[in-house]
Amino acid sequence: MNFDYDSEQQEGQQKIAAVADLKGLEEIRVEYLGKKGKIAAMYAALAGLPDDRKPQEGKKINEFRSHIFHLIEDKRNSLVDKKRQEKKETIDVTIPGVSAPVGHKHILMQTIDEICAIFEGLGFAVQEGPEVETEFNNFTALNIPADHPSRDGFDTFYLKRPDPDGEKGNLLLRSHTSPAQIRIMQAHKPPLAVVVPGKVYRPDAVDASHSFMFHQIEGLLVDENVRFSDLKGLLEVFLKKLFGENIKMRLRPHFFPFTEPSAEVDISCYICDGKGCSVCGKKGWLEIMGCGMVHPKVFEAVGYPKGKYTGLAFGLGVERMTMLKHGIRDIRLFFENDMRFLEQF
Ligand code: PHE
Repeated sequence: MNFDYDSEQQEGQQKIAAVADLKGLEEIRVEYLGKKGKIAAMYAALAGLPDDRKPQEGKKINEFRSHIFHLIEDKRNSLVDKKRQEKKETIDVTIPGVSAPVGHKHILMQTIDEICAIFEGLGFAVQEGPEVETEFNNFTALNIPADHPSRDGFDTFYLKRPDPDGEKGNLLLRSHTSPAQIRIMQAHKPPLAVVVPGKVYRPDAVDASHSFMFHQIEGLLVDENVRFSDLKGLLEVFLKKLFGENIKMRLRPHFFPFTEPSAEVDISCYICDGKGCSVCGKKGWLEIMGCGMVHPKVFEAVGYPKGKYTGLAFGLGVERMTMLKHGIRDIRLFFENDMRFLEQF
């Protein structure tokens, strides 16, 4: 017996490299490793050798077999991988689809949309105003003169830039959306009905119920013969659409320099239905907005003819409204952008 293991090995290696499918590979495996295959024949031939050559020859056959065995295994693995990959490229319509994550509106923007849509349904237009305002629009025209103590209630961020339109004061970040009233009345004659959503700024320390930036929605309706009962009726319709038909509303006398008379609006607590709980501080009522009849001084500031028109105005805090509607206890949650919070809405 005289096997040339080197050339046998080379030949086997070439055959395995050349084969392109599993069936062909199996034929090669049988040819070499099968019961009647080449390697079996080699072992059989061992018997005819003199004893002193058997160990050496046996070792060579073992090595040859192990080499061929591993080549075949590797090839089998790569052919199976290839087959898997080819399968992936074909479309299996029975596999459930992977849905792509889609973004959505921030909860505050959803509230703004919802509130504006209610007022649009009642005939109001939606308009916006600038966040950088003049002292005139934010205060003076709203009947809040420079030295008036009521300015303290509207703590304000001032900019280092003077108002380019000539007033002595500096520009500022609006502390409420009411200056938009002035811009709207300067640009339009009555009848008008507008809501203005937007950001406002106040230098408050941040805590669970305060933020230096928050959102308001201003409302303004001016015409001849607008009455306080129109204001009350309008707000009642609005609040029932937003919080549900069962909600009760009450007006409490209040003071704003730019409305007279003025009121704060309460709704019955949605949690305890007015019985008193921790959300409403046992009062059964929640304060949710300010309102009133436009002050004659404001009409004067925008140049409307004296005594011709009356108007109603209101302003509400979007964060507070949203917190009440959804039972959210901390205003900071709106601005931390934690997806676990935002994805709930
Ligand atoms: N601007 C007032 C505030 O920020 C709210 C308000 C608006 C009150 C319009 C009356 C009329 O508190």
